[in-house]
Amino acid sequence: MAKQALDRKPTLLQRLGVACYVYFIPCFAVVNLLIVLSAIYTWWLCVPWLLYVLYINIGPGRQAARDGKWPTPLRRWWLWKHCADYFPTQLIKTADLDPEERYIFVVHPHGIVTMFAWPCFDTEPTGFSAKFPGIDIHPMTLDINFKIPFMREFLLLHGVCNVSRDACLMVLGQGSGKAILIAPGGAQESLYTEPGTYDLVLDRRKGFVRIALQTGAKLVPVIGFGEPELYTARRTAPGSMRAMMQKMLKTMLGFTLPEAVGVGLFTKLGLMPYPRPLNVVVGKPVSFDPSSLDLNKEQSLDVFVDAYHAQYKTALQDLWQQHKNTFAKERRRSLRIVE
Ligand SMILES: *[C@@H]1O[C@H](CO)[C@@H](O)[C@H](O)[C@H]1NC(C)=O
Repeated sequence: MAKQALDRKPTLLQRLGVACYVYFIPCFAVVNLLIVLSAIYTWWLCVPWLLYVLYINIGPGRQAARDGKWPTPLRRWWLWKHCADYFPTQLIKTADLDPEERYIFVVHPHGIVTMFAWPCFDTEPTGFSAKFPGIDIHPMTLDINFKIPFMREFLLLHGVCNVSRDACLMVLGQGSGKAILIAPGGAQESLYTEPGTYDLVLDRRKGFVRIALQTGAKLVPVIGFGEPELYTARRTAPGSMRAMMQKMLKTMLGFTLPEAVGVGLFTKLGLMPYPRPLNVVVGKPVSFDPSSLDLNKEQSLDVFVDAYHAQYKTALQDLWQQHKNTFAKERRRSLRIVE
């Protein structure tokens, strides 16, 4: 395995930058817990907080992540540069994107934490706006992330939206230059994570293709080379107690906990990724070509979805073939679609 990369010692700022992404959920959880605990002494301090929790969970605030209308100053926060340099991260563009069009960035592999998406698409340090001028990107994530006080604002101020169909249609419906980012493999794909492998969950994920056809958005394949190397991860034996718990979490929360370990902020062992290079390749947009279909027959939308999905898979495989020898030298096997 990449020995030098492992021996590289990132600076404290770089480690803090990555920690701000990897640990943001527990950090916001602790802040909220402290507020609740403080109520024992000063109950009135909790009142505005409680109103705010109600507002974002059952009040009008629960719809905030639908339209991507918040300003996004945090995309340029100075610490994110250090986060990108920890690995280091490269955003590699292979084609121009036309700001008169709309796009769905489809990213693979999910890995343990989809680390590569953060310095490339959720934030600016690798030059997204300079490389793709006029493209307003909104990474989509699970609704549950917007239920937690302060974390909701943290995400919204990066332009992150809700991965519901509704929100995808709404953002893309706003006109030219709009883009969303989706990791279709999701939690299921995270369970396949193992160094040297790119096993994807894509065959049964077609929602993003349907949205592309409905909005006229083009699909942009993205491969995050290096993501599988970020943790010492292994697949859980099927049928085991752990596998059952992972499945339960996945159903209940939408995310799960694969068996993985990395480094700590100050220790050798922890939940942060290893400092190994991330090379994120953005492919050419794939536009739907209906010539493979017999348009004289009456076709249901499903037929179009299947055809576009197949075209997308071919484009993704091509992208892999073009770059695997440069960026996946340590692969154990080729990229494959396992379900
Ligand atoms: C996310 O989308 C769902 C379905 O449209 C909606 O019920 C929920 O309120 C949305 N959440 C946010 C934070 O916008």
